[in-house]
Amino acid sequence: MTTTALATTSTAGTDHPTALLDVDGLTVRFRLPDAVVHAVTDLRLTVRPGELLAVVGESGCGKSVLAHALLGLLPGNATVTGRARLHPPAQEPVDLLGCGERRLAQDVRGRALGLVPQSPATALNPVRTGRRLLVETLRAHGHSRRNASTAADQLAVDVGLDPADLDRYPHELSGGMAQRLVTALALAPDPPLLLADEPTTGLDRPLVDHTLDLLRRRCDTGAAVLLITHDLAAARRVADTIAVMYASRLVEHRPTDALFDGPAHPYTAGLLDALPDRAFRPVPGHPPMLTH
Ligand SMILES: Nc1ncnc2c1ncn2[C@@H]1O[C@H](COP(=O)(O)OP(=O)(O)OP(=O)(O)O)[C@@H](O)[C@H]1O
Ligand SMILES: [Mg+2]
Repeated sequence: MTTTALATTSTAGTDHPTALLDVDGLTVRFRLPDAVVHAVTDLRLTVRPGELLAVVGESGCGKSVLAHALLGLLPGNATVTGRARLHPPAQEPVDLLGCGERRLAQDVRGRALGLVPQSPATALNPVRTGRRLLVETLRAHGHSRRNASTAADQLAVDVGLDPADLDRYPHELSGGMAQRLVTALALAPDPPLLLADEPTTGLDRPLVDHTLDLLRRRCDTGAAVLLITHDLAAARRVADTIAVMYASRLVEHRPTDALFDGPAHPYTAGLLDALPDRAFRPVPGHPPMLTH
């Protein structure tokens, strides 16, 4: 498949007064000494309160860069253009790409917009126990000292951790335990929109389902989740809508059932054909280099 075969079938538009997140024309380029990486190209989507949107696509297609661009977490060689507005409940809308680092740090990151990072090992402070990390986060978001430890225990249970494990340091946790801890940390401020970047990596199937159900329940109570995943079965299980990315572009964005019943884009059809309970046929060819 070549880039010329791409055509967006996104139904997401720009004028959604009820949207929690409204992204239009988001484009990210990375400058390298001898090339430019086209990491995200002209991406348009909306997320509404109560919606669980799954973003799927092959490794390297731009999913994490999308999340990091929304949070202002890209390195200095990145250029970001387009528009991304967050409409937190009962607050002024935030122009995520234009509001500046100070506003992002004070009001957005970890507050209005949470992140479950893809690499828990690098996200956890190695010299603090899980409990201390969680209690500090809860205290920073208004919990009293007495109440924060109990709330930390409850968050541990919510994500499928034994509260006793909170007393370990990050290096004493397995990959799956660290994954659950970063999920608990992201949930502690109760953000209206959570970006969850592969939050089920390293988890056994029952814990995968536990985590997915936890995210689904958040949406059922009015929050929203943008779930980045390779796992189409997971997306089908919990997502209201699915956005398919291919080589930096969003090629299809539709309600989950409609996408599974009749994919509109050939790449989506290829992804569905690759599922074990379907043709189990790999997508032919390779995505193009993002420097091309
Ligand atoms: N700082 C950077 N400088 C140059 N290129 C980068 C940088 N960060 C990411 N990229 C490139 O941007 C593209 C998108 O990366 P991204 O991490 O978003 O992929 P992904 O879809 O999240 O993949 P995975 O499923 O493996 O996590 C990749 O080609 C990657 O190499
Ligand atoms: Mg990624």
